[in-house]
Amino acid sequence: MRRDWKTRLIHPDVNAPQGFRSLATPIHRGSTTLFSRAADMIDTWNHDEVPYTYGTYGTPTTLTLAARLAAMDGAYRCFITPGGLSAIGLVYFSFTASGDHVLVSETIYGPSRAFADRLLSRYGVDVEYYKPLLGEGIEELIQPNTRLIWCESPGSLTFDIQDVPAIVRVAHRHGVTVALDNTWAAGLFFDAFGHGVDISVQALTKYVGGHSDLLLGSVSVRDETSYQRVGATLKHLGMAASPDDCSLALRGLQTLGVRLPAIQNSTLRIAQWLAAREEVAIALHPALASCPGHEIWARDFTGSSGVFSIVFREPINRSGIERFVNGLKLFRIGYSWGGVTSLVALPDLAEAPNAAAYGDRLLRLSIGLESTDDLIADLSAAMPALRSSNP
Ligand SMILES: Cc1ncc(COP(=O)(O)O)c(C=O)c1O
Repeated sequence: MRRDWKTRLIHPDVNAPQGFRSLATPIHRGSTTLFSRAADMIDTWNHDEVPYTYGTYGTPTTLTLAARLAAMDGAYRCFITPGGLSAIGLVYFSFTASGDHVLVSETIYGPSRAFADRLLSRYGVDVEYYKPLLGEGIEELIQPNTRLIWCESPGSLTFDIQDVPAIVRVAHRHGVTVALDNTWAAGLFFDAFGHGVDISVQALTKYVGGHSDLLLGSVSVRDETSYQRVGATLKHLGMAASPDDCSLALRGLQTLGVRLPAIQNSTLRIAQWLAAREEVAIALHPALASCPGHEIWARDFTGSSGVFSIVFREPINRSGIERFVNGLKLFRIGYSWGGVTSLVALPDLAEAPNAAAYGDRLLRLSIGLESTDDLIADLSAAMPALRSSNP
């Protein structure tokens, strides 16, 4: 019997020719995942072990990205989230409960701090901030109910490098989980799992995406216990990442090996040039000796990336820096980093108490893939605005 055309639109009896092979990972979209038999219908999230059950837990595109990141990170498994901040939230929800104590570096990414202060506190989790450079000294802060220690190295805005191996040694003596935001190192220039961390998070939005056109995050885990915890939590939160964005991230991975070294070299030249300027008091770039924790960077990291800060010399102030920023032609003003376009960002000091020590004289730069000489010329041309009173 020939079925009605409306039915045939949905249940066609024709197919495209088989045998197409391409270098690109296909974009598999889908909420519904089909089962062959009624008895197979079961809502499980661990698609690494069981057949696909529902789109929330990832399609082959999402899981390909997760598997490639796990391999790069040297992790047991990896989960993909809709953004870097949601990856951070997923870790908190996975490893803490009401009544727990959490230690968080003072240099943590501002919205991560806001998440802890404004959301976690409502669920009875006690968050305590620690000085990023305290190393083994963290032992004094560990309480019987401490469950999680958050590291971010280098830290946001001030780029302090933490002694992560020392923190891990102490934490593990006390049975405390250590999570690291490893975005700055693109998951590559710092071997998180080799240095003992339990959970490594990345905002794929930055270097993996690499073109300022997607939002994604990753949570890589060391072992099966963490895999189960994070997976079960992800299921409850329903954090589903877009397969289209995952496909862009997979493409981004293929050129990361060219982009990252190019960005590293350009950034080092620009940071050194800025550090030598009389308008600049200090360059907070982990590969420069002036950066707090530089010696730990030299010990533990295999490279540097493209985001760093400078602190201008007094009496240069915020309005001078705003004039300077407005005078830049190639550097654009905007949040985020890791793309091909160079950016500058003025911190909101209310959200970043760690930067307060530098007053309102700190400026963050993210270096893209423009010519280094042109970027230096752009910065140089805008320098007089720091001191002039003309807008
Ligand atoms: C260190 C760090 N971690 C996490 C994030 C959050 O990433 P997303 O913007 O994808 O939420 C950012 C964003 O700027 C960041 O700088």
